[in-house]
Amino acid sequence: MSKQTETMISLSQVGKRWPDGTEALKQVDLKIPKGEFCILLGPSGAGKSTLLRAMNGLVQPTQGSVSIDGIEMNAKSLTKIRHRIAMIHQHFNLSNRASVATNVLAGTLPSVSLLRALTGWFTPQQREKACHYLAHVGLSPDHLRRRAGDLSGGQQQRVGIARAFMMDPAVVLADEPVASLDPKISRDILSLLRDTARELGATVVCSLHQVDLAREFGDRIIGMRDGAMVFDGRAEEFTDARLHQLYHGADWEDEDEEEAGEVPELELQTVGGMA
Ligand SMILES: Nc1ncnc2c1ncn2[C@@H]1O[C@H](COP(=O)(O)OP(=O)(O)O)[C@@H](O)[C@H]1O
Ligand SMILES: [Mg+2]
Repeated sequence: MSKQTETMISLSQVGKRWPDGTEALKQVDLKIPKGEFCILLGPSGAGKSTLLRAMNGLVQPTQGSVSIDGIEMNAKSLTKIRHRIAMIHQHFNLSNRASVATNVLAGTLPSVSLLRALTGWFTPQQREKACHYLAHVGLSPDHLRRRAGDLSGGQQQRVGIARAFMMDPAVVLADEPVASLDPKISRDILSLLRDTARELGATVVCSLHQVDLAREFGDRIIGMRDGAMVFDGRAEEFTDARLHQLYHGADWEDEDEEEAGEVPELELQTVGGMA
């Protein structure tokens, strides 16, 4: 069996009920093969962030199990698994007052000692790698010493991507990484994420609000609604009818045709905020 078909992320009957009774995930069964670029779509509150956080142990499921590269996530395996998973965030999560270089070097932190992290001491190899990734994401050496908070949103997300890949992740989880960016920059950032992941064989799970971008970039689309997976297929199988179902529920067919015909992407594209 080829490497492509080996499973990297496996969720078995994963459920998450918050203490207030909200069922954020309902019996999610999902296998994501190594190297896949998988997009999570669904209305706000559907459970996309909870699902991503369950994949790196930030959310503990109340039911079922999560495995990464064949290792089941539990208290004992958690630290080891986390070292193989990078996160990319909507609001970049950079240290705004630190330099770009320091932010990227921070990507290696899971693998350096606390003392070294506190003293900011990194090996020449790590520094070289940071420079490599910064160049790779299209930032010039001039950017290295600039405060991360002074960069544009698109540039900050480039730093976020460089930081994520510093740890040689097997898995990259991106929670609406382009929701704060305009459409042209969103496309650039997703291309960069996809191409870098492809080069390194990393598996990506990325939530998005923009349906057009999901179709363009996803090898596979997972549709979430009310905590359940309601669509799982190739991007080309995600038809307009599926789109309606995802955002409006199974009863959309009962609406009169004219109304059902209106829903579409224009409306959905604005969901993502400033895009
Ligand atoms: N810490 C929490 N405590 C209680 N409910 C939560 C918590 N986090 C998320 N939820 C609820 O879980 C559901 C799924 O949320 P979330 O995963 O953030 O959805 P999405 O990312 O698709 O917008 C929502 O109903 C949300 O209000
Ligand atoms: Mg979310």
